Amino acid sequence: MKNIEILGTGRAIPSKVVTNDDLAKIVETSDEWITTRTGIRQRYFCDENESADKLAIKAACKAIESSGLNAQDIGVCICATLSGDYATPSMACMVQRELGLRENIASFDINAACSGFLYGLEVARGMLNGSLEKYALVVGCEQLSRLLDMTDRSTCVLFGDGAGAAVVRLSEDAPYASTLGARGGYEILAEGPGKEPSHIKMQGQDVFKFATSIIPLCIKELEEKSGYSSGDVSKVICHQANERIIDFVVRRMKADPDRFYKNMDRYGNTSAASVPIALDELAESGQLSSGDLLMLVGFGGGLTWAGALIRYAGR
Ligand code: COA
Repeated sequence: MKNIEILGTGRAIPSKVVTNDDLAKIVETSDEWITTRTGIRQRYFCDENESADKLAIKAACKAIESSGLNAQDIGVCICATLSGDYATPSMACMVQRELGLRENIASFDINAACSGFLYGLEVARGMLNGSLEKYALVVGCEQLSRLLDMTDRSTCVLFGDGAGAAVVRLSEDAPYASTLGARGGYEILAEGPGKEPSHIKMQGQDVFKFATSIIPLCIKELEEKSGYSSGDVSKVICHQANERIIDFVVRRMKADPDRFYKNMDRYGNTSAASVPIALDELAESGQLSSGDLLMLVGFGGGLTWAGALIRYAGR
């Protein structure tokens, strides 16, 4: 089986900034509480003219542009989301239509919550290997603001909206390793249709313990499978749920904190979008060079987790 590498990235962020002080006007909380517990200072929410599908289309368009390919080159389109505009048509079908992707390719959504983008990468690798196609578009996109109970201070301060996307290609020689996992549980719960309103509920401390134990395990497995250590890669991009989770892992692993990217201060937890948004920020700001190795780690609802060691081959 051939490996995959990242050829291009894109992101789309809604226009409405919601600061911690804005939330303190709605629920009994404070900038101080949110910042010290989570590292989050602001997040973005879609306004009435924006939606998850529109963000996904925008991020996907930028990723294709940055890859130097045409829409017609894409051989599979996967969107990871738990908050798309419709159950059907899927977000991926809307991306296919709006970007003019070919009709003879698979376009579908997957839900692995905050691990979704990484699940998407691995599904894309399998599908490319089983076909004559070379390139896949993988999007992570959420409009979590539509799932928030704005009277529940324990959850509404944590999440935000956004989209990130990557174009990957099959490669003969790129280093690559992946790990995926799941352990069914209700620790992070968003009820589906028939249970309106469908709000996110979370057992915060259980999730904290889960996250801080699973991230080091994912990294260790990637190290064993690839032969590269987290010290060999340019950046480790963990799902951006909470600064304390990442800091705890860095301390426990005695890792170099500068290698662990953090941007949750600006976006909050955007679930499936957080890893590709971070990827695109790094690429756009010139912090990634072609040939750089990255470790990506996702964890969240399901419970699910996922990791990838992958090469950046952008321009
Ligand atoms: N503002 C002010 N007070 C708040 C608050 C808020 N936004 N949210 C909760 N509190 C209060 C609680 O009501 C509780 O008050 P009490 O002691 O009077 O009952 C107190 O703060 C402590 O609540 P607790 O839930 O024990 O807080 P915590 O220290 O565990 O922090 C999280 C809460 C959510 C920040 C923390 O559990 C966490 O980071 N969990 C991981 C969550 C996560 O990242 N999930 C996504 C993974 S994909």
